[in-house]
Amino acid sequence: MHELLPLTEEQREIQALARDFAREHIAPFAADWDERSHFERSVIDRLGELGFLGMLVPEEHDGLGLDTYTYLLALEEIAAADASVAVAMSVHNSLPTQMILRWGSAEQKREYLEPMARGEKLGAFALSEPEAGSDAASLRAQGVRDGDEWVINGTKSWVSSGGHADVYLTMVRTDTPSRRRGARGISAFILTPDLPGFAIGKKEDKMGLRASPTTELVFDNLRVPASRMLGEEGSGFVYAMQSLDHGRLGIAAQAIGIARAALEHATAYAAERKQFGKALRDLQAIQFKLADMALRVAASRALLHATAAAKDRGVRTTQFGAMSKLFASESAMWVTNQAVQIFGGYGYMKEYPVERLFRDAKVTEIYEGTSEIQRIVIARELYSHS
Ligand code: CAA
Repeated sequence: MHELLPLTEEQREIQALARDFAREHIAPFAADWDERSHFERSVIDRLGELGFLGMLVPEEHDGLGLDTYTYLLALEEIAAADASVAVAMSVHNSLPTQMILRWGSAEQKREYLEPMARGEKLGAFALSEPEAGSDAASLRAQGVRDGDEWVINGTKSWVSSGGHADVYLTMVRTDTPSRRRGARGISAFILTPDLPGFAIGKKEDKMGLRASPTTELVFDNLRVPASRMLGEEGSGFVYAMQSLDHGRLGIAAQAIGIARAALEHATAYAAERKQFGKALRDLQAIQFKLADMALRVAASRALLHATAAAKDRGVRTTQFGAMSKLFASESAMWVTNQAVQIFGGYGYMKEYPVERLFRDAKVTEIYEGTSEIQRIVIARELYSHS
Protein backbone atom coordinates (compact mmCIF):
# COMPACT_ATOMS: atom_id res chain seq x y z
CA MET A 1 0.00 0.00 0.00
CA HIS A 2 2.62 2.55 1.12
CA GLU A 3 5.87 0.80 0.31
CA LEU A 4 8.26 1.51 -2.51
CA LEU A 5 10.11 -1.75 -1.93
CA PRO A 6 8.37 -5.00 -2.87
CA LEU A 7 6.67 -7.03 -0.14
CA THR A 8 6.45 -10.79 0.01
CA GLU A 9 3.12 -12.50 0.57
CA GLU A 10 4.13 -13.18 4.19
CA GLN A 11 5.07 -9.52 4.76
CA ARG A 12 1.69 -8.42 3.40
CA GLU A 13 -0.09 -10.87 5.68
CA ILE A 14 1.78 -9.73 8.80
CA GLN A 15 1.17 -6.08 7.90
CA ALA A 16 -2.56 -6.72 7.41
CA LEU A 17 -2.74 -8.69 10.67
CA ALA A 18 -1.12 -5.79 12.55
CA ARG A 19 -3.34 -3.22 10.85
CA ASP A 20 -6.56 -5.10 11.52
CA PHE A 21 -5.61 -5.74 15.15
CA ALA A 22 -4.60 -2.10 15.66
CA ARG A 23 -7.80 -0.75 14.11
CA GLU A 24 -10.04 -3.00 16.17
CA HIS A 25 -8.29 -3.35 19.51
CA ILE A 26 -6.11 -0.26 19.88
CA ALA A 27 -7.21 2.81 17.88
CA PRO A 28 -10.72 3.15 19.38
CA PHE A 29 -9.28 3.27 22.92
CA ALA A 30 -6.12 5.31 22.42
CA ALA A 31 -7.60 8.69 23.37
CA ASP A 32 -9.09 7.30 26.57
CA TRP A 33 -5.84 5.57 27.60
CA ASP A 34 -3.98 8.81 26.92
CA GLU A 35 -6.46 10.81 28.98
CA ARG A 36 -6.16 8.43 31.93
CA SER A 37 -2.42 7.66 31.48
CA HIS A 38 -3.53 4.06 31.41
CA PHE A 39 -1.26 1.20 30.34
CA GLU A 40 -3.46 -1.52 28.89
CA ARG A 41 -1.55 -4.70 29.63
CA SER A 42 -4.21 -6.89 27.99
CA VAL A 43 -3.31 -5.37 24.60
CA ILE A 44 0.34 -6.23 25.16
CA ASP A 45 -0.71 -9.76 26.09
CA ARG A 46 -2.73 -10.03 22.88
CA LEU A 47 0.22 -8.76 20.85
CA GLY A 48 2.16 -11.56 22.54
CA GLU A 49 -0.45 -14.11 21.44
CA LEU A 50 -0.05 -12.89 17.86
CA GLY A 51 3.70 -13.48 18.18
CA PHE A 52 4.46 -9.76 17.94
CA LEU A 53 6.66 -9.82 21.06
CA GLY A 54 8.99 -12.34 19.47
CA MET A 55 9.04 -11.16 15.89
CA LEU A 56 12.82 -11.16 15.54
CA VAL A 57 13.51 -14.21 17.70
CA PRO A 58 14.20 -17.46 15.81
CA GLU A 59 11.53 -20.15 15.96
CA GLU A 60 13.85 -22.44 17.95
CA HIS A 61 13.51 -19.89 20.77
CA ASP A 62 9.72 -19.60 20.40
CA GLY A 63 9.71 -16.48 18.23
CA LEU A 64 8.37 -15.86 14.72
CA GLY A 65 11.86 -15.63 13.20
CA LEU A 66 10.96 -12.71 10.94
CA ASP A 67 13.30 -10.14 9.41
CA THR A 68 13.70 -6.52 10.49
CA TYR A 69 11.74 -5.16 7.53
CA THR A 70 8.65 -7.24 8.37
CA TYR A 71 8.88 -6.28 12.03
CA LEU A 72 8.99 -2.57 11.15
CA LEU A 73 5.95 -2.91 8.87
CA ALA A 74 3.97 -4.32 11.80
CA LEU A 75 5.30 -1.71 14.22
CA GLU A 76 4.22 1.17 11.97
CA GLU A 77 0.66 -0.21 11.97
CA ILE A 78 0.57 -0.40 15.77
CA ALA A 79 2.08 3.11 16.09
CA ALA A 80 -0.47 4.59 13.70
CA ALA A 81 -3.13 3.47 16.18
CA ASP A 82 -1.29 4.29 19.42
CA ALA A 83 2.35 5.29 19.83
CA SER A 84 2.22 4.30 23.50
CA VAL A 85 1.50 0.67 22.67
CA ALA A 86 4.12 0.81 19.92
CA VAL A 87 6.91 1.90 22.25
CA ALA A 88 6.37 -1.10 24.53
CA MET A 89 6.50 -3.36 21.47
CA SER A 90 9.55 -1.61 20.04
CA VAL A 91 11.63 -1.56 23.22
CA HIS A 92 10.77 -5.18 24.03
CA ASN A 93 11.62 -6.49 20.54
CA SER A 94 14.62 -4.29 19.79
CA LEU A 95 16.49 -3.96 23.06
CA PRO A 96 16.18 -6.60 25.85
CA THR A 97 15.08 -9.40 23.54
CA GLN A 98 17.83 -8.75 21.00
CA MET A 99 20.44 -8.41 23.73
CA ILE A 100 19.61 -11.75 25.33
CA LEU A 101 19.35 -13.42 21.92
CA ARG A 102 22.75 -12.13 20.92
CA TRP A 103 24.77 -12.34 24.12
CA GLY A 104 22.74 -14.45 26.54
CA SER A 105 23.77 -17.89 27.84
CA ALA A 106 21.69 -20.96 26.99
CA GLU A 107 20.15 -20.77 30.46
CA GLN A 108 19.35 -17.05 30.12
CA LYS A 109 17.67 -17.75 26.80
CA ARG A 110 15.54 -20.50 28.30
CA GLU A 111 14.68 -18.52 31.42
CA TYR A 112 14.06 -15.07 29.89
CA LEU A 113 14.25 -14.90 26.10
CA GLU A 114 11.79 -17.68 25.38
CA PRO A 115 8.99 -16.45 27.71
CA MET A 116 9.61 -12.95 26.32
CA ALA A 117 9.31 -14.22 22.75
CA ARG A 118 6.08 -16.04 23.67
CA GLY A 119 4.74 -12.78 25.11
CA GLU A 120 4.55 -14.12 28.67
CA LYS A 121 7.12 -11.65 29.99
CA LEU A 122 7.48 -8.01 28.95
CA GLY A 123 11.00 -6.62 28.59
CA ALA A 124 12.36 -3.15 29.38
CA PHE A 125 15.72 -1.41 29.02
CA ALA A 126 17.46 0.70 31.67
CA LEU A 127 20.46 2.77 30.61
CA SER A 128 19.76 6.45 31.42
CA GLU A 129 20.14 7.96 34.87
CA PRO A 130 19.34 11.35 36.39
CA GLU A 131 22.89 12.55 35.57
CA ALA A 132 23.48 10.38 32.49
CA GLY A 133 21.19 11.01 29.51
CA SER A 134 22.94 11.68 26.20
CA ASP A 135 26.27 10.98 27.93
CA ALA A 136 25.20 7.45 28.71
CA ALA A 137 28.71 6.19 29.51
CA SER A 138 28.82 8.50 32.56
CA LEU A 139 26.22 6.36 34.34
CA ARG A 140 26.82 5.79 38.06
CA ALA A 141 24.72 2.85 39.24
CA GLN A 142 27.39 0.72 40.88
CA GLY A 143 27.68 -3.02 41.23
CA VAL A 144 30.11 -4.62 43.69
CA ARG A 145 30.92 -8.32 43.52
CA ASP A 146 30.12 -10.29 46.66
CA GLY A 147 30.79 -14.03 46.22
CA ASP A 148 28.32 -15.41 43.68
CA GLU A 149 26.30 -12.21 43.68
CA TRP A 150 26.54 -8.58 42.68
CA VAL A 151 25.24 -5.90 45.01
CA ILE A 152 23.90 -2.91 43.07
CA ASN A 153 23.07 0.61 44.21
CA GLY A 154 21.78 3.44 42.03
CA THR A 155 18.86 4.93 40.15
CA LYS A 156 17.74 4.50 36.55
CA SER A 157 15.59 7.13 34.81
CA TRP A 158 12.88 7.20 32.14
CA VAL A 159 12.39 3.48 31.86
CA SER A 160 9.62 2.72 29.36
CA SER A 161 7.11 0.10 30.61
CA GLY A 162 8.56 0.65 34.10
CA GLY A 163 6.44 -0.97 36.79
CA HIS A 164 4.78 -3.27 34.25
CA ALA A 165 7.77 -5.01 32.69
CA ASP A 166 8.94 -8.38 33.98
CA VAL A 167 12.56 -8.24 32.76
CA TYR A 168 14.80 -5.14 32.89
CA LEU A 169 18.00 -5.22 30.86
CA THR A 170 20.05 -2.85 33.01
CA MET A 171 23.45 -1.24 32.51
CA VAL A 172 25.55 -0.92 35.69
CA ARG A 173 29.15 0.03 36.50
CA THR A 174 31.20 -2.97 37.53
CA ASP A 175 34.60 -1.27 37.62
CA THR A 176 35.96 0.06 40.89
CA PRO A 177 36.39 3.67 42.06
CA SER A 178 40.18 3.13 42.14
CA ARG A 179 40.22 1.82 38.55
CA ARG A 180 37.59 3.53 36.43
CA ARG A 181 37.32 2.18 32.89
CA GLY A 182 34.79 4.57 31.33
CA ALA A 183 32.44 2.89 28.87
CA ARG A 184 34.39 -0.34 29.38
CA GLY A 185 33.52 -0.35 33.08
CA ILE A 186 29.85 -1.01 32.39
CA SER A 187 28.14 -4.42 32.37
CA ALA A 188 24.61 -5.52 31.50
CA PHE A 189 22.40 -7.42 33.95
CA ILE A 190 19.07 -9.16 33.60
CA LEU A 191 17.11 -7.75 36.55
CA THR A 192 13.65 -8.76 37.67
CA PRO A 193 11.32 -7.04 40.15
CA ASP A 194 11.43 -9.98 42.60
CA LEU A 195 15.10 -9.31 43.47
CA PRO A 196 15.68 -7.98 46.99
CA GLY A 197 16.48 -4.26 46.83
CA PHE A 198 14.68 -3.66 43.50
CA ALA A 199 12.01 -0.93 43.60
CA ILE A 200 10.02 1.07 41.07
CA GLY A 201 10.58 4.78 41.75
CA LYS A 202 8.72 7.84 40.58
CA LYS A 203 6.21 7.46 37.75
CA GLU A 204 6.67 10.38 35.36
CA ASP A 205 3.85 12.73 34.34
CA LYS A 206 4.54 13.32 30.65
CA MET A 207 3.58 15.65 27.79
CA GLY A 208 2.81 12.76 25.45
CA LEU A 209 2.94 9.00 25.19
CA ARG A 210 0.87 9.11 28.33
CA ALA A 211 -0.40 5.55 28.03
CA SER A 212 3.16 4.25 28.21
CA PRO A 213 4.37 4.22 31.82
CA THR A 214 7.80 5.79 32.34
CA THR A 215 9.41 5.30 35.73
CA GLU A 216 12.58 5.36 37.72
CA LEU A 217 14.14 2.15 39.00
CA VAL A 218 15.75 2.37 42.44
CA PHE A 219 18.35 -0.18 43.52
CA ASP A 220 19.07 -0.25 47.25
CA ASN A 221 21.64 -2.95 47.93
CA LEU A 222 19.95 -4.98 45.21
CA ARG A 223 21.38 -8.51 45.20
CA VAL A 224 21.52 -10.37 41.91
CA PRO A 225 23.18 -13.72 41.16
CA ALA A 226 26.35 -13.34 39.06
CA SER A 227 24.72 -15.67 36.51
CA ARG A 228 22.36 -12.81 35.60
CA MET A 229 25.19 -10.79 34.05
CA LEU A 230 24.77 -10.74 30.28
CA GLY A 231 27.80 -11.73 28.23
CA GLU A 232 31.18 -10.40 29.29
CA GLU A 233 31.93 -8.13 32.20
CA GLY A 234 32.72 -4.63 30.89
CA SER A 235 30.88 -5.08 27.58
CA GLY A 236 27.45 -3.79 28.67
CA PHE A 237 27.84 -0.35 27.10
CA VAL A 238 28.89 -1.74 23.73
CA TYR A 239 25.98 -4.20 23.84
CA ALA A 240 23.64 -1.29 24.63
CA MET A 241 25.00 0.78 21.73
CA GLN A 242 24.69 -2.10 19.29
CA SER A 243 21.15 -2.74 20.47
CA LEU A 244 20.28 0.93 20.16
CA ASP A 245 21.37 0.76 16.52
CA HIS A 246 18.49 -1.65 16.18
CA GLY A 247 16.16 0.13 18.57
CA ARG A 248 16.44 3.36 16.62
CA LEU A 249 14.88 1.66 13.60
CA GLY A 250 11.88 0.84 15.79
CA ILE A 251 11.56 4.45 16.92
CA ALA A 252 11.74 5.56 13.28
CA ALA A 253 8.85 3.18 12.47
CA GLN A 254 6.95 4.55 15.45
CA ALA A 255 7.50 8.13 14.22
CA ILE A 256 6.33 7.14 10.73
CA GLY A 257 3.19 5.58 12.21
CA ILE A 258 2.42 8.79 14.11
CA ALA A 259 3.07 10.99 11.05
CA ARG A 260 1.03 8.78 8.76
CA ALA A 261 -1.92 8.85 11.17
CA ALA A 262 -1.71 12.66 11.24
CA LEU A 263 -1.61 12.76 7.43
CA GLU A 264 -4.62 10.44 7.18
CA HIS A 265 -6.65 12.50 9.66
CA ALA A 266 -5.70 15.76 7.94
CA THR A 267 -6.51 14.40 4.49
CA ALA A 268 -9.95 13.24 5.61
CA TYR A 269 -10.66 16.48 7.44
CA ALA A 270 -9.58 18.61 4.44
CA ALA A 271 -12.10 16.75 2.27
CA GLU A 272 -14.98 17.43 4.67
CA ARG A 273 -14.31 20.86 6.08
CA LYS A 274 -15.55 23.84 4.04
CA GLN A 275 -14.31 27.41 4.32
CA PHE A 276 -14.68 30.24 1.82
CA GLY A 277 -17.27 28.10 0.02
CA LYS A 278 -14.84 25.30 -0.78
CA ALA A 279 -13.54 22.11 0.79
CA LEU A 280 -10.11 22.72 2.35
CA ARG A 281 -8.64 20.16 -0.05
CA ASP A 282 -9.43 22.54 -2.93
CA LEU A 283 -7.45 25.40 -1.36
CA GLN A 284 -3.89 25.50 -2.62
CA ALA A 285 -2.49 26.53 0.77
CA ILE A 286 -3.82 23.25 2.20
CA GLN A 287 -2.83 21.18 -0.84
CA PHE A 288 0.76 22.35 -0.42
CA LYS A 289 0.73 21.34 3.23
CA LEU A 290 -0.74 17.90 2.47
CA ALA A 291 1.75 17.34 -0.34
CA ASP A 292 4.72 18.20 1.88
CA MET A 293 3.37 15.99 4.67
CA ALA A 294 2.95 13.05 2.27
CA LEU A 295 6.46 13.64 0.91
CA ARG A 296 8.05 13.52 4.36
CA VAL A 297 6.18 10.39 5.37
CA ALA A 298 7.16 8.65 2.13
CA ALA A 299 10.80 9.76 2.34
CA SER A 300 11.06 8.64 5.99
CA ARG A 301 9.59 5.28 5.10
CA ALA A 302 11.81 4.79 2.04
CA LEU A 303 14.97 5.50 4.05
CA LEU A 304 13.90 3.27 6.92
CA HIS A 305 12.85 0.37 4.73
CA ALA A 306 16.02 0.52 2.66
CA THR A 307 18.02 0.55 5.92
CA ALA A 308 16.08 -2.43 7.26
CA ALA A 309 16.61 -4.34 4.03
CA ALA A 310 20.36 -3.60 4.26
CA LYS A 311 20.40 -4.76 7.88
CA ASP A 312 18.66 -7.98 6.85
CA ARG A 313 21.45 -8.52 4.31
CA GLY A 314 23.98 -8.26 7.15
CA VAL A 315 25.16 -4.70 6.46
CA ARG A 316 26.18 -2.60 9.51
CA THR A 317 23.57 0.16 9.68
CA THR A 318 24.73 2.44 12.51
CA GLN A 319 24.76 5.50 10.26
CA PHE A 320 21.65 4.77 8.19
CA GLY A 321 19.80 3.80 11.35
CA ALA A 322 20.66 7.13 12.97
CA MET A 323 19.62 8.89 9.75
CA SER A 324 16.34 6.99 9.66
CA LYS A 325 15.52 7.82 13.26
CA LEU A 326 16.55 11.47 12.88
CA PHE A 327 14.66 12.05 9.65
CA ALA A 328 11.52 10.15 10.68
CA SER A 329 11.26 11.81 14.09
CA GLU A 330 11.83 15.35 12.84
CA SER A 331 9.37 14.65 10.03
CA ALA A 332 6.80 13.35 12.52
CA MET A 333 7.11 16.54 14.55
CA TRP A 334 6.74 18.66 11.41
CA VAL A 335 3.88 16.62 9.96
CA THR A 336 1.86 16.56 13.18
CA ASN A 337 2.36 20.31 13.53
CA GLN A 338 0.94 20.82 10.02
CA ALA A 339 -1.96 18.50 10.84
CA VAL A 340 -2.87 20.57 13.89
CA GLN A 341 -2.67 23.67 11.68
CA ILE A 342 -5.02 22.21 9.06
CA PHE A 343 -7.52 21.34 11.78
CA GLY A 344 -7.20 24.94 13.03
CA GLY A 345 -9.01 25.60 16.31
CA TYR A 346 -10.29 22.02 16.35
CA GLY A 347 -6.73 20.75 16.08
CA TYR A 348 -5.87 22.33 19.40
CA MET A 349 -8.70 20.48 21.16
CA LYS A 350 -8.37 17.08 22.79
CA GLU A 351 -11.57 16.05 21.03
CA TYR A 352 -9.58 15.55 17.81
CA PRO A 353 -6.77 13.00 17.47
CA VAL A 354 -4.12 15.28 15.98
CA GLU A 355 -3.59 16.98 19.35
CA ARG A 356 -2.41 13.66 20.85
CA LEU A 357 -0.34 12.81 17.77
CA PHE A 358 1.47 16.16 18.06
CA ARG A 359 2.31 15.49 21.72
CA ASP A 360 3.32 11.89 21.02
CA ALA A 361 5.61 12.86 18.14
CA LYS A 362 7.89 14.97 20.32
CA VAL A 363 9.43 12.14 22.29
CA THR A 364 10.67 10.43 19.12
CA GLU A 365 13.15 13.33 18.84
CA ILE A 366 14.36 12.61 22.38
CA TYR A 367 14.48 8.97 23.41
CA GLU A 368 16.84 6.27 22.13
CA GLY A 369 19.20 9.18 21.48
CA THR A 370 18.17 12.78 20.86
CA SER A 371 18.31 14.30 17.37
CA GLU A 372 21.62 15.87 18.39
CA ILE A 373 23.04 12.44 19.30
CA GLN A 374 21.86 11.03 15.96
CA ARG A 375 23.73 13.83 14.20
CA ILE A 376 26.85 13.02 16.23
CA VAL A 377 26.57 9.35 15.27
CA ILE A 378 26.07 10.23 11.58
CA ALA A 379 29.01 12.66 11.58
CA ARG A 380 31.35 10.22 13.37
CA GLU A 381 30.54 7.52 10.85
CA LEU A 382 31.64 9.85 8.04
CA TYR A 383 35.17 9.47 9.39
CA SER A 384 35.09 5.93 10.70
CA HIS A 385 36.19 4.31 7.43
CA SER A 386 38.69 6.94 6.38
N1 CAA B 1 28.02 -0.17 17.74
C1 CAA B 1 29.01 -0.87 18.34
N2 CAA B 1 29.84 -0.33 19.27
C2 CAA B 1 29.66 0.96 19.57
C3 CAA B 1 28.65 1.75 19.00
C4 CAA B 1 27.81 1.13 18.04
N3 CAA B 1 26.82 1.81 17.44
N4 CAA B 1 28.72 2.99 19.51
C5 CAA B 1 29.74 3.00 20.39
N5 CAA B 1 30.29 1.76 20.42
C6 CAA B 1 31.45 1.32 21.22
C7 CAA B 1 32.71 2.05 20.79
O1 CAA B 1 33.32 1.41 19.69
C8 CAA B 1 33.55 1.95 22.06
O2 CAA B 1 34.05 0.65 22.15
P1 CAA B 1 35.59 0.34 22.55
O3 CAA B 1 35.65 0.49 24.03
O4 CAA B 1 35.84 -1.06 22.11
O5 CAA B 1 36.45 1.35 21.83
C9 CAA B 1 32.51 2.08 23.17
O6 CAA B 1 31.26 1.69 22.59
C10 CAA B 1 32.39 3.50 23.69
O7 CAA B 1 31.99 4.30 22.59
P2 CAA B 1 32.21 5.86 22.49
O8 CAA B 1 33.61 6.20 22.93
O9 CAA B 1 31.76 6.28 21.14
O10 CAA B 1 31.20 6.39 23.63
P3 CAA B 1 30.73 7.85 23.96
O11 CAA B 1 30.73 8.01 25.43
O12 CAA B 1 31.47 8.85 23.14
O13 CAA B 1 29.16 7.81 23.53
C11 CAA B 1 27.25 8.18 22.14
C12 CAA B 1 28.70 7.68 22.26
C13 CAA B 1 26.86 7.84 20.70
C14 CAA B 1 27.13 9.65 22.37
C15 CAA B 1 26.36 7.40 23.16
O14 CAA B 1 26.62 7.82 24.49
C16 CAA B 1 24.89 7.54 22.89
O15 CAA B 1 24.35 6.89 22.00
N6 CAA B 1 24.19 8.38 23.69
C17 CAA B 1 22.71 8.43 23.65
C18 CAA B 1 22.15 7.51 24.68
C19 CAA B 1 20.83 6.95 24.28
O16 CAA B 1 20.54 6.70 23.10
N7 CAA B 1 20.01 6.68 25.26
C20 CAA B 1 18.77 6.06 25.01
C21 CAA B 1 18.16 5.60 26.27
S1 CAA B 1 17.21 4.14 26.03
C22 CAA B 1 15.67 4.63 25.61
O17 CAA B 1 15.40 5.76 25.34
C23 CAA B 1 14.71 3.50 25.51
C24 CAA B 1 13.31 3.88 25.71
O18 CAA B 1 12.81 3.84 26.80
C25 CAA B 1 12.49 4.23 24.55
